[in-house]
Amino acid sequence: MSQLFARKTVADFKADLALRSGLKRTLNKWHLTALGVGATIGAGIFATTGTAIVGDAARPGAGPAIVLSFILTAVACGFAALCYAEFAAMVPISGSAYTYAYASLGELVAWIIGWDLVIEYAVGNIGVAIGWSGHFRELLHQFGLDLPAWLATDYRSAYDAVAAVAQGATDAGTTYLASAVSTAPVLLGIPVIANIPAFLIVMLITIVLVVGIRESANANNAMVVLKIGIILLFIIVGAFLIKPSNWTDPAQGGFAPNGFKGISAAAAIIFFSYIGFDAVSTAAEEAESPARDMPFGIIMSLLITTVLYIILSIVLTGMAPWGQLGTPEPMITALSLAEGPPMLINASRFIIALGAVIAMGSVLLVFQLGQPRIFFSMARDGLLPQVFTKVHPRFKTPYFGTILTGVFVATFAAFANIAEVVDLTNIGTLFAFMLVSIGVIVLRIKEPDRERPFKVPGAPYTPLISVVATFYLMLNLPSITWIRFGIWLLLGLGLYFAYGMRRSRLRGRK
Ligand code: ALA
Repeated sequence: MSQLFARKTVADFKADLALRSGLKRTLNKWHLTALGVGATIGAGIFATTGTAIVGDAARPGAGPAIVLSFILTAVACGFAALCYAEFAAMVPISGSAYTYAYASLGELVAWIIGWDLVIEYAVGNIGVAIGWSGHFRELLHQFGLDLPAWLATDYRSAYDAVAAVAQGATDAGTTYLASAVSTAPVLLGIPVIANIPAFLIVMLITIVLVVGIRESANANNAMVVLKIGIILLFIIVGAFLIKPSNWTDPAQGGFAPNGFKGISAAAAIIFFSYIGFDAVSTAAEEAESPARDMPFGIIMSLLITTVLYIILSIVLTGMAPWGQLGTPEPMITALSLAEGPPMLINASRFIIALGAVIAMGSVLLVFQLGQPRIFFSMARDGLLPQVFTKVHPRFKTPYFGTILTGVFVATFAAFANIAEVVDLTNIGTLFAFMLVSIGVIVLRIKEPDRERPFKVPGAPYTPLISVVATFYLMLNLPSITWIRFGIWLLLGLGLYFAYGMRRSRLRGRK
């Protein structure tokens, strides 16, 4: 029993660092900020915003009031970011929320979070890879190249499209996806449908990551600059295409057609677009000066993306009637629907498709980078097999975890459906944010004198608000998501009692 709640002390962490890190300290505060922005602007803003605005079978949409959803989620994330910053400066070890829980809430909760973070990082990236593939397909299409649909989508999307066609849908996107079922080769009576671009992009990124963090950080910086530029371009072009009546049209239900219900349901979806600032914390052991720079990187990256999202959502819903924006490429749809010079609109469409591909590429990179480093920390504590701590002799990267994560994410990306993956990622990440916020409160009580290079202002109230806000967003996710999440946690508990509990290094020390 005492082991379940055993905490790691500062001395334990220092001993770990002295024992072995082997990772190179090469990242400054702007690298860290870029890492955060790189992880954040991606499939969420480019793909899931459409569903958040319009809603789906399980929930109402926000309509033009989506801007309030973005503000609501930003506030919740802001409180959580402060909590992450306090921990990241105090415990600059590469495991992110997992490490913080080990320091504050004990081993069992730490394990639960570590296991939960697989949902945020690896499962989240399955969703991003699928979103990437959709925009990549669109880009190829603009060049006149079309992949056979059975090589570029998943089963559920293909069969949903077949059902839609049976009900009379005739648009090009739906008929293309439906063709996957009729054209697929059949193996043992089952049509073979797989999202090959999603698989390949993850494998490519895995290779980059095995070769080196410095190279990865440089590639990330370039992608971040490009994607911020593309979002700004959309905002500027879109601003000229706004028809203010789109924000308030009474025929469409006015500014907030589904009231607060729609706004909060949308807030829980677009939470996906904010995930990432916390990923900065996984690179703590590769930061030049973590105590000073981690809080900066975490808070600055959230700030940058929040401002961009709020402006973008105002522009987006001003460009076209919100009811028509519910596609997997809402920005491209808005451009197509807006009235403006065709040359400008077509060029922007192309640039946005290209931008989305680049943006999601960098999200994939950061999360593929983060996951093995969390495994690394867990294995160093004995909760996972030691092979996860092996650093490549030449490249100095945790290659085993990197390759394993790559194969896992790539394989599921080839077959999974994006909407299901996004909901699951959101609930898992919100849960991690909630536990980190609780951790801040607990540690302030248990170790009030511990050195804190960065302190959350207004504690314990600020972390408390973070707990309530994240839990509130979790409540806005569908019940099937809660069930899947529960199953995942049970599986993790089974694993802990069967393996981690017996092998824990802390157990040997206490
Ligand atoms: N925030 C990341 C994205 O939207 C996960 O792609």
